[in-house]
Amino acid sequence: MIVCQCNGVSDRTIRRAIRGGAASCREIARSCNAGTFCGGCRPAIAELIREEQSDAVVEAAGSGLAAAAS
Ligand code: FES
Repeated sequence: MIVCQCNGVSDRTIRRAIRGGAASCREIARSCNAGTFCGGCRPAIAELIREEQSDAVVEAAGSGLAAAAS
């Protein structure tokens, strides 16, 4: 799904940038140009950042539990 209409950037590209270390709209813009024109997509980008970061916390907690159980 295209998140940034101005630059044609998809949610997959943005999620990849987040997993690569981008943690703010500015860093996403630097990484893939999303949000650099009208800015209308920045709330959606911020939401993707929140989603990816909470997924990472859940995954980290899961691996901690797995390590503790073994
Ligand atoms: S929709 Fe992303 S900069 Fe306009």
